[in-house]
Amino acid sequence: MWQPRVIMQDGVLMPFAEARVHPLSPGFAYGAAVFEGIRAYRDPASGRLALFRLKEHLDRLAFGMKIMRFERTFEEGYLRDRINEVIRANEPDDDVYVRVLVYVATVSPMTTATPVSFTVAALPREKPKYAEGMHLGVSSWHRLSDNASPPRVKSTANYHSSRLTILQARADGYDGALLLTRNGKVSETPIACVFFVRDGKLVTPSLSSDILESVTRDTIMRLHQDMTGVPVIEREIDRTEIYLAEEAFVCGTGQEVIPVVSFDKLPVGDGKVGPVTAHLRQRYFDVVHGKTADYDAWRTRVN
Ligand SMILES: Cc1ncc(COP(=O)(O)O)c(C=O)c1O
Repeated sequence: MWQPRVIMQDGVLMPFAEARVHPLSPGFAYGAAVFEGIRAYRDPASGRLALFRLKEHLDRLAFGMKIMRFERTFEEGYLRDRINEVIRANEPDDDVYVRVLVYVATVSPMTTATPVSFTVAALPREKPKYAEGMHLGVSSWHRLSDNASPPRVKSTANYHSSRLTILQARADGYDGALLLTRNGKVSETPIACVFFVRDGKLVTPSLSSDILESVTRDTIMRLHQDMTGVPVIEREIDRTEIYLAEEAFVCGTGQEVIPVVSFDKLPVGDGKVGPVTAHLRQRYFDVVHGKTADYDAWRTRVN
C-alpha cells in the first residue's frame, strides 16, 4: 500500500509528519473547523484516478464555512487545484482518501473568524470492511440536533458525539451504533447514513432527521431510481421499524456501502446480506471505479 509523503497547509507542501496546528487555536481548542472526506478511485482500465463527486463535497464545505462565519473562505476552483496538487505530489499507485480541513489556526479567542487556514491530505484507501454485514446497536446517546450542533455542517466538533457513540457501541459488543433523534426517530450512524428495505421498498430517514446531507446517500438514491424506476422513500422512521426491515445498509464516502445484518442482536430479515443491498453495493463500486461509462459527470479526473 502506498504511504502519504507530503501534506499541504495554506497552499504549501511539506513532509507529511511536519504539519502543525497550535493547541491554543480555536480550530483545535473549540472545534472551529469544517472538513470533507473525498475519495479518488483508480479506473482499472486506464489506471487513472478520478475524484468522486468532488463538486458536491466542495459545495458542502462552502456551506460549512458560511455557517461557521469564517471570514476568509476558499473558492471551489482553488481547492480543486490544491487537491490535485497534493494527490500528484504523493504519487499514489492506488485509490486515495482526501481530507480537506478549514479551521482557525492562530492563537486567538474562541469567536475569531479570521485568518482561516486549510490543510489537504491524501491517504491510502483501507480495504472495505464488513462485506458479510455489520451488527449495530441502537445507541443510548441521541443524535445532535439542528438547532444545537447542526449535523448538516460537517464540523469536527460534531465528531465528539460520534466518538462517544462508537466507543459505547464497541464496549457493548457491537460493530457500531444507530442513533435516534431526540424525538426517538431513526437518524443515522455516527459516521454514515442508513437505508432500509421495508415491504420491498427502499426507505431512508428524511433530511430533517438530524442527518448530514450525505453525498453517498444522494448517490444511492439516484442509482436506485435509475436501476428500478422507483424513487427511494424519504420519511421519518420509527425505532421498531428497524426490527421489521427485510434489509438494511449504511453508506458514506468513508464507509462506502456496508450491509447491516442485525440491530440490537435481532436479525435483519434472515440475518444475511439481502439482494437489494448486494446489488446496490456492487453498482456503487462499479460507478465509483469508473467501470461503467454512466455517471461520468460524477468523476473528476486527477490531472
Ligand atoms: C455523520 C455522517 N453521516 C453521513 C456521512 C456520509 O456522508 P458522505 O456520503 O457525504 O460522505 C458521514 C460521512 O462522513 C458522516 O460522518
